[in-house]
Amino acid sequence: MPDDPFAWYRRLRENDPVHYHASAGMWFLTRYEDVQLVLQGRSFSAALGQRLRRRGTPLPLSMLNSDPPDHARLRAPAAKVFAARAVERRRDGVRAVVDAIVPELDDRDELDLLGQFARPLSSRVLAELLDVPVDERERFERLADEASANLDPLAGPDALAAALAAAEALRAAFATYLETPRSRSELGILDALGEECTRAGLARDELLTMLNLLVIGGYEPLANLVANALAALLADPEQLRVLRSDPSLIGSAVEELLRYEAPVPVAARAPREKVAIGGKDIGAAEPVVVFLAAANHDPSVFAHPERLDLRRRPNPHLAFGAGAHFCLGAPLARLVCREAILAILDRFPNLSVAGALEWRPSLVPRGLRALPVRTG
Ligand code: HEM
Repeated sequence: MPDDPFAWYRRLRENDPVHYHASAGMWFLTRYEDVQLVLQGRSFSAALGQRLRRRGTPLPLSMLNSDPPDHARLRAPAAKVFAARAVERRRDGVRAVVDAIVPELDDRDELDLLGQFARPLSSRVLAELLDVPVDERERFERLADEASANLDPLAGPDALAAALAAAEALRAAFATYLETPRSRSELGILDALGEECTRAGLARDELLTMLNLLVIGGYEPLANLVANALAALLADPEQLRVLRSDPSLIGSAVEELLRYEAPVPVAARAPREKVAIGGKDIGAAEPVVVFLAAANHDPSVFAHPERLDLRRRPNPHLAFGAGAHFCLGAPLARLVCREAILAILDRFPNLSVAGALEWRPSLVPRGLRALPVRTG
């Protein structure tokens, strides 16, 4: 990835918004209008788009890499459990996880808010959500971490091989958790999800694939959402002051932080038949990468897109995608991010970044290597 992806997106959007990247053999789309069209129209296939990503072996069929009618069948049982209202009922459980981690950060002058806060937060939320036994949590975090390379289209062969092995190990672990009766956590959805899947006639294998997807699709994006959001806030003292003086802005603040620094900057699709976009013909099954992060900075939709404006309204960002594959975890990710930011600002009234920030070279997630901060 270029050092400054936003400058690169701007150049592409202004000069060649439907760009054929010859060495990658892929189309890159950077205009809001085009990205939305690809994600919401019926001409593009997610199944084809995911299959065309560089990978030795195909991923098992899940809602992420399927089209109608499979997609609705695979998503519907989980959609009930992850619906906004169902997630809001888990607010106390999420707050309890945040409140358990924040005190662990006490009494240190310097902290890494990614490694010591956002990552443990993401893995504990997912572990509780998926009823991972307490004595398995460390292993779960390691496997979630390794399996996440499955998300990154730029991951090298070694990382991908390790990611596939980790995904297999996660799958085997979930098969055991499902069969082991035990008291479930306050946040836990494992039994409810299992019941919904049985009722909808999904096979056991399909449930295990779904659980894997929840970990792989959730862990890195959630950790990086929280860290990217805190980094963007700390880089803008004026906006930080606005939020500190009016915490009721947290809802629109999180939307703006999602827009500003989306942790999942791309989605992959391919057209079923030849289509014309922006005066270019895209052939059937040719890989198309839509840059959600570029669309989120398109000045034709967002005035002064490079400016962080926590009160921005409307804010129709595409950080969670759009259309049928709109992020299933969005209500949960929003809730966790809101609670996390409020808790950190409350606990540390004098927070500032300690040193230059370095971004990881991966495409997905867009994330920092660390978020070093001074607390006093
Ligand atoms: C609680 C954590 C999360 C979980 C469990 C989760 C889960 C999922 C799942 C299962 C899908 C596939 C939905 C489908 O194809 O029908 C999905 C899609 C997506 N998620 Fe999330 N997600 C989480 C957090 C995030 C975060 C923080 C972001 C970034 C802001 C994000 C961005 C996306 C995007 C862009 C898609 C669409 C992919 C596409 O259209 O190809 N997710 N998520």
